[in-house]
Amino acid sequence: MGRYLQNTWYQAGWSGDLPPQGNLARTICEVPLVFFRTAEGTATALLDRCPHRFVPLSAGKVGPDRITCGYHGLAFGADGRCVHNPHGPILGALAVRAFPVIERHLAIWVWLGEADLADASLVPDLSYIDETPPLARITGYMPTAANYQLLADNILDLSHADFLHPDTLGGINTTAKSTHRQDGERVIVDWLAEDCVPPPAFRATLHGAERADIWTEVVWQAPAVMTLGVAAMVAGTPRRAEDEGYTLHNMVPETATTTHYFYCATRRFRIDDEGFTAFLKVALAQAFTQEDKPMLEKQQQRIGEAEFWDLQPVLLRIDGASTRARRLLEARIAAETPAG
Ligand code: FES
Ligand SMILES: [Fe+2]
Repeated sequence: MGRYLQNTWYQAGWSGDLPPQGNLARTICEVPLVFFRTAEGTATALLDRCPHRFVPLSAGKVGPDRITCGYHGLAFGADGRCVHNPHGPILGALAVRAFPVIERHLAIWVWLGEADLADASLVPDLSYIDETPPLARITGYMPTAANYQLLADNILDLSHADFLHPDTLGGINTTAKSTHRQDGERVIVDWLAEDCVPPPAFRATLHGAERADIWTEVVWQAPAVMTLGVAAMVAGTPRRAEDEGYTLHNMVPETATTTHYFYCATRRFRIDDEGFTAFLKVALAQAFTQEDKPMLEKQQQRIGEAEFWDLQPVLLRIDGASTRARRLLEARIAAETPAG
């Protein structure tokens, strides 16, 4: 059993993952959840375990305003209370735990901790997703058999691109100027590769220029929500807002060794270019599924059940941001766990 931050919003899916009449089963932090929509369309989450004989409610039927267990027909409303018992009276104790849910930034968010603390203002601000026209944004989901903090390390140290993605993204970050800092509860790391040969993935805003200045920045917040900003400029020219792209990388723990990886790529350039969006969609999925994911899964297999720090990892200069993020998350988890 891992220990996870409880009082926080976890992304459970994209809004489109939850159709009006269907349900979505997702385990988050080892808690099995079932999501469904009320007749009005409001997303709701219950523990995905019938209190009678413990089958998953997600194996049952949705609607209207309820989910009905597929085994013996108990039905539960959005608040988790039993609304129908075909075998007798509805007793007060007949209920299943309900969890606070919010739909925002095209995503469904769930709160596993104390319901009283579920404050909507704590949903990460991803307004760049809402501000991007649909044609210029790409949402994706890539389940990965590795711990979510290993996936966060991967984004917080982009020098790996030079070795793992040499044909598309890599070749600039190991030698780039890089700094990291903490800003309140966030960790910010940036790279500036000046006067470099632009890797293929960065050529879209360069109009054929042979040399570029490439700026990359990752902003992390607990538990593992990251926004990666990037801009490629013709060498020697200033960075312009209209050349920037921002991508969400949100690593949501499923279990100690599996992760729901949600991403959403947005850009401010070529926003009407559907062909470019299609190209990016394939390129993103390819880099991840063929390069990052296999390496991260092999990494998890080598680590096995061991605690990361117990293995005494060698710390390099490139690990500054990820180490800081891990420490911040550990402190947050420790602060909400009663001592003893
Ligand atoms: S297991 Fe759900 S009603 Fe029996
Ligand atoms: Fe990568």
